[in-house]
Amino acid sequence: ENVPTGFKDGFLWGGATAANQVEGGWNRDGKGLTTAEVVRKADDRKNFTMSDVTKESMAEAIADKSDEHYPKRRGVDFYDHYKEDIALFAEMGFKAYRMSIAWARIFPQGDDQEPNEAGLAFYDRVFDELAKYNIEPVVTLSHYEMPLHLTEKQNGWASRETINDFLRFTKTVFTRYQDKVKYWLTFNEINSTTFGFTGSGAIDAGLSEREKTQIRYQSLHHQFIASALAVQQGHKINPEFKIGSMLARMQTYPATPNPDDVRAAQQSDDANLFFTDVQVRGEYPEYMNRFFAEHGVKIAMEPGDEAILKAGKVDFLSFSYYMSTVTSAKHAGDTTMGNLVFGEKNPYLQTSEWGWQIDPVGLRITLNTFWDRYRVPLFVVENGLGAEDKLTADGQVHDSYRIDYLRRHIEQMKEAVKDGVDLMGYTMWGPIDLISASTSEMSKRYGFIYVDQDDEGNGTLKRIRKDSFKWYQRVIATNGEDL
Ligand code: BG6
Repeated sequence: ENVPTGFKDGFLWGGATAANQVEGGWNRDGKGLTTAEVVRKADDRKNFTMSDVTKESMAEAIADKSDEHYPKRRGVDFYDHYKEDIALFAEMGFKAYRMSIAWARIFPQGDDQEPNEAGLAFYDRVFDELAKYNIEPVVTLSHYEMPLHLTEKQNGWASRETINDFLRFTKTVFTRYQDKVKYWLTFNEINSTTFGFTGSGAIDAGLSEREKTQIRYQSLHHQFIASALAVQQGHKINPEFKIGSMLARMQTYPATPNPDDVRAAQQSDDANLFFTDVQVRGEYPEYMNRFFAEHGVKIAMEPGDEAILKAGKVDFLSFSYYMSTVTSAKHAGDTTMGNLVFGEKNPYLQTSEWGWQIDPVGLRITLNTFWDRYRVPLFVVENGLGAEDKLTADGQVHDSYRIDYLRRHIEQMKEAVKDGVDLMGYTMWGPIDLISASTSEMSKRYGFIYVDQDDEGNGTLKRIRKDSFKWYQRVIATNGEDL
C-alpha cells in the first residue's frame, strides 16, 4: 500500500532554459551588458571557455558591439519568439517551464537604485503567456550571469557588497511577480562558483592556484549568504513561495574496490555534496574545515553569518544531472575539491559526442542518496543530451538517440520514486535548441524543437518539431507511464 507506483499527480513535467542562452536582445530596452556576453565562443568543442575571461578579454568584448564572437548575445531570439516558443511547450503539455531572469534587464548596472521598467515588463509578458496555458514558471534568479558592471566595479561575488545588490534585485522581482511565480531557485549550479568566472563573476586569471581557491570560496560564501537571505526575504513577501537550491550533481564511483579508491570517491562525493549540505542543512560541514585548512583558505565571515545560513535553509533541492564520473586514489591528488569535471573513464558507459558519460542508473543512485541525506523534496531541473542533430531533406529531425537517453533516465527516476523518494518534477535541459553554456556552440543541440541557426548565427530561426517532440508529449500525457 505504501509503495508508490509512479509519478505523483501534479508532477512538474517540463523543460529548462537560461536567459543568456535563449533570449538574445542583449542590448534591447535598456538591458545592461552581462558577464555571459563577454565570454568568447570556443574554437574547439572540447575546450570550455566559460571561465577564460581576463581583464584584457573583457575590455575587448566591451569594445566589440557585435555578436559575432559572443553567441550568448543573440541566443535563439526568445526575446521576440517567446509566444511561439511557449505555444510549442504548451503543445507538448508542459506543466512547468524553468527559465531565468537576466538580472541586467532589471538592474542594468547591478548597483542602480531603481529598476528598469521595460525589463520587468518583458517578464510580465512571459509569465502571462505561460499562465494562459497553465504552465508553472520555475525561475532561477542567477543563472551564469550578472551585470558586468559589478565585475568591473567590485569583482563580482568576490565582494560582499554584491549581496546587497543581489537582494535589491530579488526583492524587486519577488514583489513584482509574487502572484505569478511560486517556484524559485537562487543560484544555478552553485558549485560552478568554485570553477571561476561564470559562477563567481570574479576575474581571477593570472592568480596562483591558492589565490584562486581563496577568491572562489569567498565568492561562494557570499552567494550562500545571499541565497539564505533571499530565502527569508521571499518567504516574507509571499509565504507560499517554494525556494530551492540548485547543484550540478557529479555522481562519483570508485575506479576499483580498493578501499583507497572507495575513500577517494567518497571524498569527491563530499566535495560535491558540500554545497547542498550548506543550503539544505544550514551550516558548513566539518570536513570542509579540513579542506580549507589544507588549502590555506580563510573564509571571511561576519558576525551573524552562521545564523543567516541556519535561518535561510531551502524548501527543496534541485539539481542538474548529465553524467557520472570515476575517481581513484592515484588521481585524487590531481583533483581539487572544486574541480568536479575531472574524472576517469568508466568502461561500462558510453559517452555523448562531447565525451559526457551517459549513466541513467547514476540518476537513481543520486536521487536515493539525496533523499537519504536530506529528506527534502527533490527536483530534477536539468538532464538531457547535447547532440549534433541533422535536418533531413524534407525538414525533419529523427532524434531517436535523444528519446533513448531521456527515456532511460526517466525510467530510473521512476524507480527512485518507487523507492519512496519525494520527487517534485522533471524539467529536461533545453526543450528548444539554445546556445551551449560551456562552448557557446549552437550545434550542440538538446531540444525537442530544432532552431534553424548555425554556430555563426546564420539561419532563419525557424522552429521545427523533432521526433522527440511527439514522444515527450505522450510521456507527459501519460504522466510518465508510456515511455
Ligand atoms: C548546465 C547549465 O551546466 O548544463 C546549463 O546549467 C548548460 O546552463 C547545461 O547549458 C548543458 O551544458 P552545455 O555546456 O552543453 O550547454
